[in-house]
Parts: sequence; C-alpha cells; structure tokens
Amino acid sequence: MFPQSVFPDTAQVNTEGQLVIGGCNTLDLASEFGTPVYILDEQTLRSRCRSFVSEFQKRHPATQVAYASKAYINPALARIFQEEGLGLDVVSGGELAIARSVDFPLENVYFHGNNKTPEELSEAVEHGIGYVVVDSFHELNLLNSIADAAGITQDVLIRVSPGVDPHTHVYTTTGILDSKFGFSIQTGHAADAVRQALAASNLNLRGLHFHLGSPIFELEPYALATEFVLRFAAQFREEGLNLQDFSPGGGFAISYTRDQEPPEIAAYAETITATMKATCDELGMTTPRLIIEPGRSIIGPAGVALYRVGAIKEIPGVRKYVSVDGGMGDNIRPALYQATYEVVVANRINEPEAEKVTIAGKYCESGDLLASDVMLPELASGDLIAIPATGAYCPSMASNYNLNPRPPMVLVNNGQSRLIRRRESYQDMMHVDVV
Ligand code: LLP
Repeated sequence: MFPQSVFPDTAQVNTEGQLVIGGCNTLDLASEFGTPVYILDEQTLRSRCRSFVSEFQKRHPATQVAYASKAYINPALARIFQEEGLGLDVVSGGELAIARSVDFPLENVYFHGNNKTPEELSEAVEHGIGYVVVDSFHELNLLNSIADAAGITQDVLIRVSPGVDPHTHVYTTTGILDSKFGFSIQTGHAADAVRQALAASNLNLRGLHFHLGSPIFELEPYALATEFVLRFAAQFREEGLNLQDFSPGGGFAISYTRDQEPPEIAAYAETITATMKATCDELGMTTPRLIIEPGRSIIGPAGVALYRVGAIKEIPGVRKYVSVDGGMGDNIRPALYQATYEVVVANRINEPEAEKVTIAGKYCESGDLLASDVMLPELASGDLIAIPATGAYCPSMASNYNLNPRPPMVLVNNGQSRLIRRRESYQDMMHVDVV
C-alpha cells in the first residue's frame, strides 16, 4: 500500500503506477533535472504555513510564526515564507544573508545560536534585526557593547533551559540541564541573565524563549515547560521584567514512517495557548505575544528525494544492498540519528513487495545507508527510488563529502516545475580553492 500519509498532500499514483507530485510525474522530473534531486511540493509547503498561522492565531491572535531556517532556506523559499506572513528564525550570518538577499523584513527575524560571533552580531545589529535571542553571558556583554557602539537599543529575548526532557534523540534534545544551549533555570543562571539583561544599557529585554528539542511527539513537555517558564518570569515582575514576548521554540513532529502519528498542529496550538492563558490568568499576568518556530513541520512533509538505482549486491543469506546515486552527502540523518524513512519505487509503485533490501548510498562509508531492511518489489538498476519526508534537515545538512556535487531542488505546483537550486558543478566545488 502506498504510504500516502508520509508524502506531500498532492502525491498521487497514476494509472501506470508512477509517482506524481504537484501534478508532475517524478519520472519526467528525474529525466529533466537528473538524480539525485529533491522535489518540494509548493502546495504542501504553503498549506503547512497557513495551518500554523491559523491554528495558533485563532486561539491566540498575537502569535508570530517564525520559520526555522535551519530546516532549509534559500532565496526562493524565503520569498514564499514572506508571502505567507511568516517571520524567520536564523542561526548564522549565512541564514541572515539569505533573508537580506530578498529584502525579508528584518524586524520579523530572530537570531539564535549558542555562540554567535562578534561579526555575526555586528551584522545583525547593523542591518536592524528584530530580535537577538541571547544564549550566554558572553553574548549578553558582547551584544550590549555592539549595540552601544552602534548607538541603538537592541530588542532581545533570553533563552532559558527549563530542564524538561522531550523524549527525543539525545543529539536533538536541548532543553535539559546538561545542554550547551541557554541559561538553566535550575542552576540560577537564568535568573542572573534576566537581571543582567534588565540592567544592560543597550538591551531591551522583551521576553523569554526556550526550545526543548526536536522532533517532539508528545504534547506534555510543551505544557510543562510553558507553565514552568511563565512562573519563572513572574518572579521578576517587581524587578522590571515585563513579559511582552514568549517563545516555546519549535520541534513539532511529522510522520517519517507510516506507523508514526504525531499530534495535529491544532493539538500543539491548543496545548501551548491554553497552558499559557491558564498560567498567566493564575499569576495575574497579561498574556504575552507568542512566537513559535516550526522548521521541520513546515518543510519536511513537502520534500521527496529521488534517486536512481545503480549497483545491486546480494550476499546470500546475509543482505541485499541496493545502491543509489546519493546518500549521506544529501541525507545524513540515518547515519547521524538512526533516522528511518519509507522508500517506494517511483516507477512501479503498485507492484507487490517481494524482498527485503538495504538502500545504500554511494559514499565511501559502510554507515552510508539510507534505509535498512525495507520490503520492496524486486529492484533493477535504473529503477527510480523515492524517499518522502526529506524536505527538512536533508539539503540543509548536505555536504560535499567525497566531492559529490550537492543535488538540485525543484519546486512543483499544478503541473509546473521550477528549479530553485541547480545541481552543483565540479567548478562550483573548486571555486573557493586557491592553487
Ligand atoms: N527553534 C530553535 C531554537 C531550534 O534550535 C530549532 C531546531 C527549531 C526552532 C526548529 O525545530 P524544528 O521545528 O525544525 O524541529 N538536525 C536535526 C534537527 C536539529 C534541530 C535544531 N534546532 C534533525 O535532522 O532531526
């Protein structure tokens, strides 16, 4: 059975058993743009943006949805997010430069990161970034002096670590005590940071931020941490903290495999806004503006990676390796987080499963496996493999390992396809080398 739930909204199987996305046949896309290639379905992308905005704003009108660029950003996509009325969360000068390249309104941009460099902070201040989310005492002092030198007062949020475990992979867990991110409430560092920010001559402390990790399949961690952080904030009212902004970050889960059923966007919205209102009412606090930062849950479900099958190696009684023309250079997630994906044969989807295979990449590493022990029809060299739910953290974490050029990205909509990033060339890769 075709696993529709992990594919973009527009995904269909045509009468010849071929995969169609955004009205475009994936076999044609593969011939036109080559493989590997990442297909992004514009309808899914925009509809996820709209769902986040409407589900949160109908419960709490003062909500800003800031897309987490680290999931993947480029100029064409930044324009789409702007059209959808989203802000942006950036974590580097590079992501900020993409926003600037399309004149993204910088007042809606939030700068995150545990070690922003002096150059990055200066660029952000100079270009009038909306908010810097301060992550360390070092940054607090540095940013204050940069803002002072620029003659401005910078709006900031403080990133606190509430000590709530979201039960996800240890590499993507961030809001616990033993984390490089944020000021821990438990150790008293968060309280010191709030006081120092309030006292800083050139910083305007507008509120607090936390991010628990990602992907989070449970609602309870959001409720627990929201209540805890709002109670923490209330302690500083007399010292001058007026909580205008509150951000519980991102981390909303998506289905990677057919058996996964993450909460609906509405359920995350209900949990966060209801907890926020109830806690603020109890504490006699005005409910702050809410900022949420979905990345994966906006772009992840819109993306499908296409690969061509090459070498096939069967080790009798052990395993059958089916190698494709991409791998860990364009999708590091299986190797880094033991992430699992669905796999379909895009040119003959309706054929029954016949054998258990392991889809291997082309990189010189035994760990370069995209999917282990998946049931598929008998494969032949030349078949087209599609891996869904690959829009987030695949192209954005891509590398040139083994000097393989990074794949192109194609936006599809209503039968039209548009290249929004071309395939890298050997010249692109050597462009920065100096002989
Ligand atoms: N806000 C902050 C402060 C974050 O650190 C992150 C993700 C997000 C928002 C967005 O989280 P999302 O909604 O996309 O789950 N490379 C890993 C994910 C790392 C996430 C880092 N921070 C992966 O491939 O699973």
